[in-house]
Amino acid sequence: MGRDEGDRARSTTGGDDVARRNRATYDRIAETFREWTSDPAFSEPWIEALVRRVGRGARVADLGCGPGRDSIALQARGVATVSMDFSLGMLRAGLADFEGPRVQGDLRWLPFAADAFAGAWVNASLLHLEPDDVDVALGEIARILRPGGWLSTSVKGGTGDEWEDTRYGEPRWFHYWSEAEFDARLERAGFEIHDAEYDEVRSQPWILRQARLRP
Ligand SMILES: C[S@@+](CC[C@H](N)C(=O)[O-])C[C@H]1O[C@@H](n2cnc3c(N)ncnc32)[C@H](O)[C@@H]1O
Repeated sequence: MGRDEGDRARSTTGGDDVARRNRATYDRIAETFREWTSDPAFSEPWIEALVRRVGRGARVADLGCGPGRDSIALQARGVATVSMDFSLGMLRAGLADFEGPRVQGDLRWLPFAADAFAGAWVNASLLHLEPDDVDVALGEIARILRPGGWLSTSVKGGTGDEWEDTRYGEPRWFHYWSEAEFDARLERAGFEIHDAEYDEVRSQPWILRQARLRP
């Protein structure tokens, strides 16, 4: 293992049990998740904004992609998209819908080279990481983006954390964020926030952000 890899491995913060249980849940619920979340309407304005910013032909990583609904939308707009998730079940669930490329990987230790992407689409996946691990993941996202690259992300608003099992009948761990707390972590990781929305239309609020890695 090279020095950088060793440093990154040591910098993860012990959310491994949470990660393993979440991954096992997503492996089990993948097909249902794909069926129930196939409508891209919620993501579309943010996808449009990201594509405008990175430009057609740019490389974007869809991190915590699930079955890949948003990867399809990005690809359809001419963006060279790589989809990544740590749940093999979720990656497989999208096989019939689009070819790929897709890779298995962890948000806290991204399997990509430095400066490889103009954009990162990270929709509803950081919400499964403990706050210290979100810092690790944001550091990793900053590493794989080129200077001036764009991050589009969303997490759930609120306070505290929980194992939630009502929606799919299987436990998923969530951390609920305040806007100030989430924004502070984005800024600490080197991002400047350009678009911000607190969406209370649905049953639970969502914090949506588009941010640029300071050049
Ligand atoms: C709520 S789903 C969102 C999926 C997709 N982004 C979407 O918007 O439909 C959360 C996804 O994050 C993935 N995930 C959770 N923790 C992860 C981690 N540490 N590394 C990689 N993927 C992770 C899960 O496997 C799951 O596919």
